[in-house]
Amino acid sequence: MKIIIGNQKSYLTKEKVKDFILKIKDINYKDNEVVVCPSDIYISLYSDVNCKIGCQNISVSNNGPSTGETTASQYKSMNVSYAIIGHSERRTNQNESLEQIKLKIQNAINENIIPILCIGENRSQKDSGETEHVLKEEILGSIEKEFANKVIYAYEPLWAISDGINPAVIPSNDEIRRIAIYIKELLRKEFNSEAKVLYGGSVNPKNIVELNSINELDGYLIGGASTKGDEFTYIIENS
Ligand code: PGA
Repeated sequence: MKIIIGNQKSYLTKEKVKDFILKIKDINYKDNEVVVCPSDIYISLYSDVNCKIGCQNISVSNNGPSTGETTASQYKSMNVSYAIIGHSERRTNQNESLEQIKLKIQNAINENIIPILCIGENRSQKDSGETEHVLKEEILGSIEKEFANKVIYAYEPLWAISDGINPAVIPSNDEIRRIAIYIKELLRKEFNSEAKVLYGGSVNPKNIVELNSINELDGYLIGGASTKGDEFTYIIENS
């Protein structure tokens, strides 16, 4: 069983969402857990689809006077069961801090929404051998011991995330395996917790079969390819 999460970012408008839904509506997920994270305004279009629904962010606030925010309990009321938290695009563009990410994780867990924490190094951190250090800081800076086993960890090296036009070069299977083992061991050592680890960054129909031979991975976080029904279907059927 793999956990396959589609992060549709801000790629689609309504007609394209409807086309996508038609394409994935009747596919066989096998025993995979399939989660689509649409833009908030399209969540209700998924009411008849067999997949789970996730959100791409969650507010640090609770219900009340927070203009433009969507809270964990609001998502819960729309049957959202997963939340992507700390995506690198938000850490970079919205300057999300570890403290905010920690709060978002707590807010999600309080509503029984499963947080998917995105972690990963940028190109220069990789080149200077800091990958493990970055991952450790991101995990220890945003996870409380009591919540550690309620979070799914998505390793997304920033340099492997596609620019929306072309897929990027991704790490080798050996590198991904090494990092998945590192994250699992860190969680065991620090929190006595078993962790589920996903890989994300330019996952697509061309690399899914090879990626799927990494037994240490529990699934994938997919951006661009989760906006195209045919590609997402192929990935699900080959996971
Ligand atoms: P990508 O995005 O699959 O388009 O590289 C992955 C992500 O940012 O979650």
